[in-house]
Amino acid sequence: MKKIVLDTYEEVSRAAADIYTRQLKEKPGSVLGLATGSTPLGLYAELVRRYQAGEIDFSRARSFNLDEYYPIGGDHPQSYKYFMYENLFNRINLADSQLPDGEAGDPRAECKRYDAAIEAAGGIDLMLLGIGHNGHIGFNEPASSYSMGTHYIDLTESSIAANSRFFTDGGTQPVKALSMGVGAIMESKSVLLIITGAGKAAIAKKLFEGRIYTDVPACFLLLHPDATVIMDRAANGG
Ligand code: GLP
Repeated sequence: MKKIVLDTYEEVSRAAADIYTRQLKEKPGSVLGLATGSTPLGLYAELVRRYQAGEIDFSRARSFNLDEYYPIGGDHPQSYKYFMYENLFNRINLADSQLPDGEAGDPRAECKRYDAAIEAAGGIDLMLLGIGHNGHIGFNEPASSYSMGTHYIDLTESSIAANSRFFTDGGTQPVKALSMGVGAIMESKSVLLIITGAGKAAIAKKLFEGRIYTDVPACFLLLHPDATVIMDRAANGG
């Protein structure tokens, strides 16, 4: 795993955008794996800026997002679909973008459909990941066994608590989700993990011990042949 530590969040966002810029120059038809959360917001803003400046073109690329709450409508402001359209898809020219459908009638059938769509696209070229405070990637929560494919999952108390700040309007916060599994993440040709802020320093430290903690899903990335972590100084312990 390649580790890059930069001073600020802005530098991290620009360095991550450089990886996307290079990826799309080398392979304009790339399949991009995308993530939500506050961490990639700076990266998405930088990609939008570069697109508007004519420095990057997504017209032949497509994307698959990691996860979505279940059940949730795509027009719900806290749905990951809404987040992605607001922050990225409405502002760039991606040829196609998919997320697991939080409104699917049969969530397990939706998981199968999603995996088949990723496979039909040829798998993911560059997978973007953030990390939860408990070490989750996507919504692969700490557990003793992990699903390889997209799966229908109960969120842990820790993830529900971490995300409750977004559900303050009195609406019900979903306690389940649809998440890409560890298999699709590990089969991605390359992985880019962004870790920023002092609040992630403890989990980052654990990850960089270099051991495979079976209750820290991000540790799987230590086994990936082309994984890069970009972090700011705060996440690296200051
Ligand atoms: C959610 C998402 C993850 C994301 C995590 C961290 O739980 N399912 O994909 O990495 O939040 O979010 P943040 O970047 O806001 O810390």
